Order: sequence, then C-alpha cells, then structure tokens
Amino acid sequence: MRRVRIEHPGSRRPVRDLLNRPLRDLRVSVTDRCNLRCRYCMPREIYGAAHEHLPREELLSFEEIARVVRVLAAHGVSKVRLTGGEPLLRRDLPRLVEMLAAIEGIDDLALTTNGLLLARQAQRLRDAGLTRVTVSLDALEDADLRAIADAPISVERVLAGIDAAAGAGLAPVKVNMVVRRGHNEHCVPAMAEHFRHTGHVLRLIEYMDVGTTNGWVLDEVVPAAEMLTAVAARWPLAALPPAREGEVAERHRYLDGAGEIGVISSISAPFCGSCTRARLSADGRVYTCLFAVQGHDLRPLLRSRSGDRALAEQIERIWGARRDRYSAERARASRPRARKVEMSYIGG
Ligand code: GTP
Ligand code: 5AD
Ligand code: SF4
Ligand code: SF4
Repeated sequence: MRRVRIEHPGSRRPVRDLLNRPLRDLRVSVTDRCNLRCRYCMPREIYGAAHEHLPREELLSFEEIARVVRVLAAHGVSKVRLTGGEPLLRRDLPRLVEMLAAIEGIDDLALTTNGLLLARQAQRLRDAGLTRVTVSLDALEDADLRAIADAPISVERVLAGIDAAAGAGLAPVKVNMVVRRGHNEHCVPAMAEHFRHTGHVLRLIEYMDVGTTNGWVLDEVVPAAEMLTAVAARWPLAALPPAREGEVAERHRYLDGAGEIGVISSISAPFCGSCTRARLSADGRVYTCLFAVQGHDLRPLLRSRSGDRALAEQIERIWGARRDRYSAERARASRPRARKVEMSYIGG
C-alpha cells in the first residue's frame, strides 16, 4: 500500500511543544543596539551613555545564525524575521539575508526596522532575497514622534524608507504603530488617513508589558476594539480572514476600497493558543516566549566541535518542553513576573 505523507513545506521533522503547537517562525535579533530611544522600549534613563551593550564577540556571527536557521528549517521553520534593536545597524546585513534566503524551506524572510536607514538599503536587501519589511512609526508629526522616540528624527525620513522599500518590491510594507493612551492615541485617525490608498498596511498595536524598564501600566493600553471604532467611525471597515494560520494581526478592509488596516490585540485578546514563534537573541539564546525570564544558550554547542545533530537535539528538547502562554495567563496572574527580558534584546 502506498503511504501519502502531507507535510508543510520545509518541515521534514516538525517539532511540537507540550501544548501541541508546532515550531514555524523564528525571530532573530541581530543586535541589541538602536539609534532611537523609544520611551516604551529603551528609556534613556536606563539605556544612556553608561549602558553596556553586548560586546562584539558575544554576538552570533552570520555563519552561526545561518547554521541555527538551517537546523530549524529542518524542524518546521519556514518564516524568519530579522529584528533588533535596530537590525539595519548590523554591518553588512544584506549578506546575512542572502545566506538565509538560500536555505531550503525558508519561504518568508522579513525585517522589522525603525526605517531610518531603510532608504539606503532597501534595494540591496531585496536583491539579497528579503521578501517583506515592517516599519515602526508611531506618529506623523515630528514633535509627536520625537517625544516618543526621544531623538531628533524626522517623520519624512521614515516615510522615505517606507516608499523606498515598496519601490524596491518589498510590498506591501507593514507599518507598526504602538498606541499608548495619553501619548499618541490622538494620532490614530491621521495615521489611518495617511496610509489609506498607499498599499501599505497600518497595524495598530496594543501597548504591551514587555520587559521591566518601560514602567508599563494597564491604563495606557488602548484596546484594539476602541482603536477600530475610532477608525471605522470615519471610514467603515469589514473584517478579513487571516492571511495565514497563527497571524498575530487581525485584518480589516476599508469598505470604500482604500486598502487594509490591522490591529494587534495581545492584551485584550491574546493569541498564545496559536503561537508558533521562537526567538533567537543576538548572543545566541533561544527564548520560547516574548515574556520569558530565561533563554537557552546555544553558543556552547555552536562553538564546540559538536555537529548539527547535537544542535537539532538541543532545539528539540527546548521546544518539546515549551508550555509558555504568558499573555493568556497575564489576566489571571496575581503579580507581574519579575525580570522579563527586554524588547530591545529579544526583538519584539
Ligand atoms: P507578520 O509576519 O507581518 O504578521 O509580522 P508580525 O506581526 O508577527 O511581526 P511584527 O514584528 O510586525 O510584530 C508586530 C507586533 O506584534 C509587535 O508589537 C510584536 O511585539 C507583537 N508580537 C509579535 N509576535 C508576538 C508574540 O509572539 N507574542 C506577543 N504577545 N506579541 C507578539
Ligand atoms: N508593546 C507593543 N509593541 C512594542 N514594540 C516595541 N515595544 C513594544 C511594546 N511595549 C513594537 C515595536 C516594533 C515591534 C517589533 O514591536 O514598535 O514595531
Ligand atoms: Fe529602537 Fe524599535 Fe525599541 Fe524604538 S521600539 S527603541 S526603534 S528597537
Ligand atoms: Fe507566544 Fe508568549 Fe506571545 Fe503568548 S505571550 S503569543 S506564548 S510569545
């Protein structure tokens, strides 16, 4: 009798965690440095001149990152997102993109950036095999953006990065806006209006309690439903089905044909049940949750004489023991978790 095997492309040996969630996505932080100091992510009081970033020799080399991705691709990972800090600060990033794009089974290779250095690099990244770009932008007025990013930047430069990415064929570009009550919720309608009819997809993100340095308080979270109501009051919307299984954003389309907008409701409607994401820090630790307290250091193995088999077994053990569902449990937790890793280190 012939046996028919149906497999996800690239998942020659898919691994599942204790809640039966497969490993499909990997977010790779390539640096813990950033050229901005967004108050909700890298507040200057903590990330000032005295802050010590990871020393160069602690960072995984491109060859080491590619090796981890190759092993993970054989375990079901088909989607890789490069993050930071600010990933475009890592020298020669297109070379890493080229190495990752060549790995069998990786069919989606994306980048999350603040956009400041994007205009210069978009075409090179595209030519190297990058498939998509997401740009973080929290306001459209320079004064608002400077207050949020705590740096003298211009909105125009970020918009130029977005346009260059789309022009290079990295379209549709997604635009991430973290919405914080009392800071930039008033900017939501202007942002929606600006990105209508552009082909770029704005995503309104609930402010999350990642890390411990940003002084997160629940009062500053604007629920996704409230953001959507504000947008739909001016431009009616209709819900769209997810583009793929486990997508974090909820999609909506403008009824007048102006395009798409999304919301990411990790506080009001957590999506842990379908979370297939692992994270790799710039210094080689695997985290099985954005809110994890501890990672699993791959470097001792990576820098020993052990082969890929040993690396594969370590990854199988890590994912096989996973039971994280922090966002789903947050509401019931009696007190917040101490010492979670910081977003700038683990890459969001
Ligand atoms: P797409 O592949 O384009 O859908 O990307 P994405 O939405 O997964 O990635 P992006 O880097 O744009 O993240 C958007 C927002 O969702 C950020 O605020 C992330 O921190 C948040 N996010 C992404 N993955 C997770 C996750 O696993 N858990 C939680 N709680 N939030 C997440
Ligand atoms: N809550 C929600 N999103 C955040 N990001 C950074 N910090 C937070 C937070 N506390 C966003 C960034 C980037 C993405 C990776 O995560 O703006 O777009
Ligand atoms: Fe940098 Fe992004 Fe963090 Fe802002 S949110 S400080 S751009 S890593
Ligand atoms: Fe995944 Fe953790 Fe985010 Fe839940 S909180 S969706 S388990 S990363």
